[in-house]
Amino acid sequence: MSESPSRLVTAVVVVAAGSGQRLGYGMPKAAVPLGSETILMHALRGIVASEVATQVCVALPAGDEGLRQLCEEFRAELADGGPLVTVVDGGDTRADSVRAGIAALMEGIEAVLVHDAARALAPEAVFHRVADALASGAAAVIPALPVVDTIKTVAATTGSGAALAPEVVTGTVARGELRMVQTPQGFRLDTLLEAHRAAQDLDRQQSAAVTDDAMLVEMLGTPVHVVRGSTQSLKITTPLDLIFAEGLLEGPLGARWVEG
Ligand code: C5P
Repeated sequence: MSESPSRLVTAVVVVAAGSGQRLGYGMPKAAVPLGSETILMHALRGIVASEVATQVCVALPAGDEGLRQLCEEFRAELADGGPLVTVVDGGDTRADSVRAGIAALMEGIEAVLVHDAARALAPEAVFHRVADALASGAAAVIPALPVVDTIKTVAATTGSGAALAPEVVTGTVARGELRMVQTPQGFRLDTLLEAHRAAQDLDRQQSAAVTDDAMLVEMLGTPVHVVRGSTQSLKITTPLDLIFAEGLLEGPLGARWVEG
């Protein structure tokens, strides 16, 4: 049997600088409790357990001493036995936070996995699939799942609140071609740098439409490869997501790394 190619020297940039307003805790989402820890700590422990990273660079809300302290403690806990854990101040947008993270990478990094702290329970197996696809030669790799719901497009409506008119369907999208995209998204470092350099030429409206890093790589015309994601990689956004994540930790599934 042929051996799989060896992995690239990899950093994980964890974007954790969001406000988490939709979660409604009045604190940054990364600091919100999940089980006995915070959302951020679950994300960090998952990354370290996967053993893909030489460096983990965390983009935090600027000036958040509590989260900075948490990362310091985690760094001390790992001591010499794990990746280098560093922190940077995040920016106004997710892309700004990613840029701050990649600007702070150590010498010798060949590949970067960009990961949302909000996907705190992403299984190790997904990190492995992404890292292995990069090792096999892909410049950009995203984990994704098929879409289970029927998806329709609607005509834009006028008005707001109670005055909002019912929307009218304009079409049904072929579901077989759709994927729900997650993180960690993996890139060769040079590809990610080029994509983010090009992104700085976008106008405000175009920038606002960029919701992940792969989109920027697509704009370069570079192929983006897809590997299997996981339902465990859900993005904790609303209170219901938090209840679901708590259920994954404590419920009948029991163990954390159930789904590969
Ligand atoms: O806002 P959204 O849920 O899309 O954020 C996805 C991830 O990006 C979260 O982990 C959030 O903390 C991070 N983020 C960031 N800096 C921002 C906005 C979002 O690091 N300015």
